[in-house]
Amino acid sequence: MTTTDGGLEPPPSSQPRLHQHGREIQEFGSVKQFPLGLSYDARMLSCEQVNQILADSQILYAMYKKHHWHMRGPTFYQLHLLLDKHAQEQLALVDVLAERIQTLGGVALGDPRHVGELTSIERPPDGVEEVPVMLSRLLDAHEKILIHAHAAAARAAETGDDGTNDMLVSQVVRTGELQAWFLSEHLVDTPLVRA
Ligand SMILES: [Fe+2]
Repeated sequence: MTTTDGGLEPPPSSQPRLHQHGREIQEFGSVKQFPLGLSYDARMLSCEQVNQILADSQILYAMYKKHHWHMRGPTFYQLHLLLDKHAQEQLALVDVLAERIQTLGGVALGDPRHVGELTSIERPPDGVEEVPVMLSRLLDAHEKILIHAHAAAARAAETGDDGTNDMLVSQVVRTGELQAWFLSEHLVDTPLVRA
């Protein structure tokens, strides 16, 4: 049998075609046209801002796991569980953020090495820090993401990108604020038994 360009089709085979290569078909930082009633500029701006929050949220997720493993001391068990809960909630947000970018026609960043290049969150030491320092570090990361999310939500509202505004406010900001509350209360120096 011949193909449309006159060549010979390969015979049927159950062999998977392995080790395939090809060129990139959409560049990072670009958006394709989707019929969403949103301008190109609005979608470009939202994708850029959400990618920044996505990078920082992926780092926050990884920091939560690192600190979940590195917890110690009398409140080890409680904090070990709490940090893992927050990590899972951040991981869910990472998916929401990435899929928002795809919904707008953009390209969500995914490779951890790319994430490391774009994040604005300071890299912690590779070893273990004291517990209050680890918690404080997580709070700093939260605040950085919250500042970005508030600003990005306001810009999305200005450009008419209501879906991005809603996602940032109702999911990123609200989840981040709640997690920051739970962490902050562990840094209050309060007596446990005698006032
Ligand atoms: Fe675990």
